[in-house]
Amino acid sequence: MSKTVLVTGGTGFIGNCFCKLLLTERPDWNVINVDVCTYAANIHTIDEELKNERYKFYKVDIRDREAIFDIFEKECPNIVVNFAAESHVDRSIFDPESFLNTNIIGTSVLMDACRKFGIERFHQVSTDEVYGDLPLDRPDLFFTEETPLHTSSPYSTSKASADLLVLSYFRTYNLPVTISRCSNNYGPYQFPEKLIPLMISKALKDEPLPVYGEGLNVRDWLYVEDHCRGILAILEKGRVGEIYNLGGHNERNNLYIVKRILKELNKPESLITHVADRHGHDQRYAIDPHKANVELNWDPTTTFEEGIVKTINWYLSSYGQNWLEECLKTTEEWMKKNYNNRK
Ligand code: NAD
Ligand code: DAU
Repeated sequence: MSKTVLVTGGTGFIGNCFCKLLLTERPDWNVINVDVCTYAANIHTIDEELKNERYKFYKVDIRDREAIFDIFEKECPNIVVNFAAESHVDRSIFDPESFLNTNIIGTSVLMDACRKFGIERFHQVSTDEVYGDLPLDRPDLFFTEETPLHTSSPYSTSKASADLLVLSYFRTYNLPVTISRCSNNYGPYQFPEKLIPLMISKALKDEPLPVYGEGLNVRDWLYVEDHCRGILAILEKGRVGEIYNLGGHNERNNLYIVKRILKELNKPESLITHVADRHGHDQRYAIDPHKANVELNWDPTTTFEEGIVKTINWYLSSYGQNWLEECLKTTEEWMKKNYNNRK
């Protein structure tokens, strides 16, 4: 049956992958992308989608109540999937306020529009960072949906706050909501401020690769398309009011990731430079995806080896290199702020 899905943050890394998935695999669904296009959005990310007659783009801020309500009135979406967010932990350490504004207030504006105009589902794209971190010496521990919220950074706190707000709209207003909490994504079109694309871009230029601290922090890496398939499964099979953890059972420490990238690009490990650690740096993330597996029959399909090679090849393609250069133009100031004089 035909549906109209309003995707926020659809010009960003994961939101765009989700739009691509819907346009390819749900041929009678329409996709509305609402994105204000912050520094993290390269407009060329949506070049292909803009040619599709089932896709529409609104350059609008999710905090702009009037504009958001107008879009809902005009487009009558059946489903809303909220990807729009300030998403970089390091930036949240310098500027918490923009994270609180977009990630919390923006989410409430969207849900108010859902209440007013009626909706089949509001899905909140959240993160495993809401659970805080796990110690490195307890590999037996994993995050389940029952793990208490215990955040470390302004970013993760803003995401946890939004999750609580979403659950409160379910309980108080009966808004049909779901939440997914996913581990670290990687893949094409990821903005080069995050570990994997940053290290690829540095290695390509033979510049030092800045590893925080000893590089032993562990993340659970998931290929972006697997995350998007998990969200689609939640929309189609998930129970309203529920939270689903999505993760890859693919834990690697940062040094492993950086060395793997250097190997693939045939660059020397001497490019690795240890720099001062991130404040409040989470040690280890590890998702237990049992619930999504049993209830939704969801499982990641891309192994890390396949995914990392696909990702690196995309950044090496002439399209990927142009895209990367465009993004890097908007990060010069950030790079100085975060990496110069790191103590
Ligand atoms: P991203 O930074 O690449 O993209 C975010 C998008 O949101 C950008 O296109 C930006 O322009 C847009 N945006 C920001 N503020 C906005 C506003 N006020 N109004 C409208 N649009 C706005 O982020 P991403 O990595 O694609 O993450 C998407 C979502 O997934 C986020 O909610 C993030 O918390 C969550 N998440 C990310 C990861 C990961 O590893 N990247 C893992 C788990 C969850
Ligand atoms: O777990 C999900 C989260 O993953 C998402 O909610 C966030 O939006 C996403 O940005 C990501 O957060 P991380 O902080 O884990 O990702 P990041 O790529 O910034 O860092 C990954 C690891 O690499 C982390 O341990 C810090 C380290 N790192 C990062 C950068 C940018 C470095 O050592 N050097 C760097 O320059």
